[in-house]
Amino acid sequence: MRILFYGDIVGKVGRDAVHLSLPSLVEKYAIDFVVANGENIARGKGITESDYRFLLDSGVDVVTLGNHWHSKKQIDDFLPDAENLIRPLNLKGDVPGNGSAVFSVHGVPLRITNLLGQAFMKEEVDDPIDALASLPSEPILHLVDFHADSTSEKAIFAHYYDGMVSAVIGTHTHVQTNDATILSNGTAFLSDVGMCGDPDGIIGWEADSVIRHIVKGENTPFSLNDNAKHMICACILDLDEATGKAKSIVPLRKILER
Ligand SMILES: [Fe+2]
Ligand SMILES: [Fe+2]
Repeated sequence: MRILFYGDIVGKVGRDAVHLSLPSLVEKYAIDFVVANGENIARGKGITESDYRFLLDSGVDVVTLGNHWHSKKQIDDFLPDAENLIRPLNLKGDVPGNGSAVFSVHGVPLRITNLLGQAFMKEEVDDPIDALASLPSEPILHLVDFHADSTSEKAIFAHYYDGMVSAVIGTHTHVQTNDATILSNGTAFLSDVGMCGDPDGIIGWEADSVIRHIVKGENTPFSLNDNAKHMICACILDLDEATGKAKSIVPLRKILER
């Protein structure tokens, strides 16, 4: 089974980058299933129902989230019925929607799980290792989007679950790391897949707006450049349907031609 996974989609440019790149990548790499992290799609924070529908209409099969899962409050209206939207599993309390779900890929079951890390994150969540342990061990194909800031927390998680899940793909930092590997017991791991959006800004935001706010202390918001180049950061996973283990992981980072 071949899966295409897009990192955090930031704003309109990220959204369009996914829309424009998806058909040719699916054809070129004979992709069976597409997952995309949509936590930053709505002007950089959160997701609206129209963003979610846009991604599904563009060919994305499942949308995962992260610490910005609730930044647009209207998610409350559509999350309970959004079967292809996965919010973090280890949120505290009684939260609607699914943190993990099983999908049929040409008749073969694949579990997708979204988790939040704890190190350097503002959100208080349950222990991600315990949260994953609460899930059934079937089906054997299981992709985890581990949304976390700390590289070592992601590596600890991936090594702990090596051989028990098919892949641990890190999201959240928006910068693709150069460490794609298959661990010794067969789990594919990439500590961060990166983002889809403006390659010339600061993790997706216009550099000037970030500098004005952070360096100069001005009370101005971060902004996005809707006319930026279209960058995609993604990875392609090849999973063995007989064993649940990964056969290969190939990272992609590309600026689309106009
Ligand atoms: Fe993000
Ligand atoms: Fe995030």
